[in-house]
Amino acid sequence: MIPITKPMLGAEEGDAARLAVESGWVTQGPKVAEFEQAVASYCGAEHAVATSNCTTALHLSLLIAGVGPGDEVICPSMSFIATCNAIRYTGATPVFADVDVRTYNLDPIAAERAITPRTKAILLVHQIGLPADLDQLDAVAKKHNLQLVEDAACAIGSRHRGQAIGGRGNLTCFSFHPRKVITTGEGGMITTNNAEHAHELRLLRQHGMSVSDTARHASRKVMIEQYEMPGYNYRMTDIQAAIGLEQMQRLPGIVARRQERAARYTAHLLQHPWLRPPYVPDYAESNYQSYAAHLDADAPLRREELMQQLLDKGIATRRGIMLSHKEPACADLAPQLLPESEAASGRSLLLPLYPQMTDDEQQQVLDAIDEIAMLHSRTAA
Ligand SMILES: Cc1ncc(COP(=O)(O)O)c(C=O)c1O
Repeated sequence: MIPITKPMLGAEEGDAARLAVESGWVTQGPKVAEFEQAVASYCGAEHAVATSNCTTALHLSLLIAGVGPGDEVICPSMSFIATCNAIRYTGATPVFADVDVRTYNLDPIAAERAITPRTKAILLVHQIGLPADLDQLDAVAKKHNLQLVEDAACAIGSRHRGQAIGGRGNLTCFSFHPRKVITTGEGGMITTNNAEHAHELRLLRQHGMSVSDTARHASRKVMIEQYEMPGYNYRMTDIQAAIGLEQMQRLPGIVARRQERAARYTAHLLQHPWLRPPYVPDYAESNYQSYAAHLDADAPLRREELMQQLLDKGIATRRGIMLSHKEPACADLAPQLLPESEAASGRSLLLPLYPQMTDDEQQQVLDAIDEIAMLHSRTAA
């Protein structure tokens, strides 16, 4: 069986977790601070603030951006539901704008069209690791005086015009869930170049507490903390951060390997009669958190049939990215016409991709795709 993905974890992560446990400091402490430094430096950001996951990172970022009850935030429907849920946590209303069918990323023209007097922010997504059109979306946000927040759950290691995602200065949120390029089990991170924002994020993720546990324990003087604001418990543990530090060492190699596997898929699919490789704009370098192929509208079989036939051959695939507006959880939101999102979501499928994937395993996937195409061209004839 060829799985859709596999996290790349080894003895180093196991040892790092054990050492964190043996140190006696298991919640947010020195390893979290080190992990934050490693991510900030990799992304070229001035600050990084770790959180319990990317959903909580998004929630805090939106709060810092000033989003609250009565506001609207524009985001794509075509995203994991966490994007939309994080907006709801603030009391604001998600407003879905359409994506570009080629990139699965927010279309800047559609985003601008969705602006109303209540719009406070745009929450863009770098979907499955492919950078969104940051120049255009930044321009829209600036023109209308809106905050731009980046959902980069899948995008650590991706680049926009050569700059690492997370280095542009916007509040940018990463996930370290095992389905992502690097993992800490669960985990999130916010990068920003704004020192005040970083300070407030650190307060908010820890109950609004004015003195961190690490500072209190290190102090030779009694320190009494204050609770500056109603905050949250969105902390990462030092065990997770210790694993994260090992994962950061692996990150460049993981990204290079994913890009190499993706290039092999693309070279093959360019010859395929009805399955298309992903489109990558000139400004973007993807980490290929997922490899999304796209069925032509006149493909001889439906996406679900193709998925089943591949599964029968021992190959796991996944449907393309979900549409939040189709879920019961979003039934209360104003309906939007999202034809590009529906076309993109309905005809895409994710192929297996992981850094440990061998040539033989990938060849099995390619052969299976070709066999199915051949069978269907014969049936059509
Ligand atoms: C685009 C997007 N945003 C947010 C999230 C939420 O990440 P987490 O599971 O770390 O909360 C995910 C996770 O799949 C995602 O894909």
